[in-house]
Amino acid sequence: MQSSWEDVILAVFAPRSGKTTAVAVPAVLDAPGAVVACSNKPDLYLATAALRAAATGRRVWTFDPQRIAHAGQGWWWNPLAGRLRLDDATRLAGAFVMAVADDEHREIWGPAATELLANLLLAAHLAHGTLLDAYRWLYDESNDAPVRILRAAGHAAAADSLAGTQGLHPETRGSVYFTARAGCASLRDNDIARWVVPQPGLPEFTPERFVAGAQTLYLLSKNVAGGGAGGRADHRGPGRRRAGRGAPRRPGRPAGAAGAGRGGQHLPDRRPAAAVQPPGVALDRAGRNPPVLRPQSYAQGERVWGKAGMRELWGAATIKLIGSGADDAAFAEDISAIIGEHDVDVLSYTRGRGGGSSSTSTRRERIMPAAQVRALPKTQAVLLATGVRPALIRLLPWYEGARRAEIAAAEQQATAELVARVAGAPA
Ligand SMILES: Nc1ncnc2c1ncn2[C@@H]1O[C@H](COP(=O)(O)OP(=O)(O)OP(=O)(O)O)[C@@H](O)[C@H]1O
Ligand SMILES: [Mg+2]
Repeated sequence: MQSSWEDVILAVFAPRSGKTTAVAVPAVLDAPGAVVACSNKPDLYLATAALRAAATGRRVWTFDPQRIAHAGQGWWWNPLAGRLRLDDATRLAGAFVMAVADDEHREIWGPAATELLANLLLAAHLAHGTLLDAYRWLYDESNDAPVRILRAAGHAAAADSLAGTQGLHPETRGSVYFTARAGCASLRDNDIARWVVPQPGLPEFTPERFVAGAQTLYLLSKNVAGGGAGGRADHRGPGRRRAGRGAPRRPGRPAGAAGAGRGGQHLPDRRPAAAVQPPGVALDRAGRNPPVLRPQSYAQGERVWGKAGMRELWGAATIKLIGSGADDAAFAEDISAIIGEHDVDVLSYTRGRGGGSSSTSTRRERIMPAAQVRALPKTQAVLLATGVRPALIRLLPWYEGARRAEIAAAEQQATAELVARVAGAPA
């Protein structure tokens, strides 16, 4: 798969239709720079991790708190370490608040919750703390320590904003805090929390060094309904019931919350479970690989990145691949309309008294009607690239490509290692 540095690739394929084998595996193996690969199954990791390590001679980092590949914890990362400004904190907070599953609740309380969380993250950073300090402050609504920390460091406006939130009417304040806590629910889980605090003996992940070298990061996570390790909080909060009363004015979503601004060769199958993916680190540009996104449907993209976020991504993607299983009638119709029309000759025959006569006329017809878009076989995809006419392409899964033997061997070896890890793991 080839593209220019400036491309953003969006692949919309139904489940089991080749996202991993025909898009993600080749993209990871062909990437000349750093790679961030998100997946909810071990397949991408198993097929590519060892080959990436061998090809780059660089470290492979694997985040696998839900034991998808039983990779174990080999490192930790404190997203609050290093340089962190208020806008960085806001982007990070936005990524957490995005994990609030209840759309309506998130719409109403999300901006205020993001502002609250950003202030707490900045305070935790200034106090040389971790995400867990900010998380604890979310359960301590009247603690004035973070306000004092912000003020002492010269962040008067952030301090005022935090003090203002703490001084809201208790019901309103409760809704704002509840929303921020729901977004951070993944941190309640020890299996996730231990990735974001120092672990003696394990190396610390540093984004700056990561993007500078051709390193690889696998973020493995699956959706878990109802919060917990999943980071999604499906339960209804008090703010939902009270949404009509005392809702704060909406200053609009922070830029980072749209998802489009998130960097990285980001390959989500679902909303990543833990919201500890590198937020806003411009991996795509620094790492010099175009980002590849692959939701299972347009509607799933909307669930993950929000309606506006998905529309933004769709607009920003210079290369779109529509694979099999576009079951949404409106989506299939849109693709059909984008592919366009062509002239077809229509032959008509008229029978008259003295014999017949025929004539030809032309009629405009859809090149690919919506039904045909929907019925695309797994082996094909519609390619929409900026500046060129739509094309119907044949997909080349890795197991039919030139490197099939090598990849199959690597996958087999990695699978055997995974099985051994599971067998050796304490029950
Ligand atoms: N090594 C292989 N040889 C032959 N067929 C394979 C191989 N690996 C996968 N397949 C088949 O290819 C199809 C596409 O698989 P792939 O995992 O790429 O789909 P996907 O879109 O990533 O699925 P998901 O939505 O579950 O992530 C599946 O039907 C799968 O069974
Ligand atoms: Mg897949």
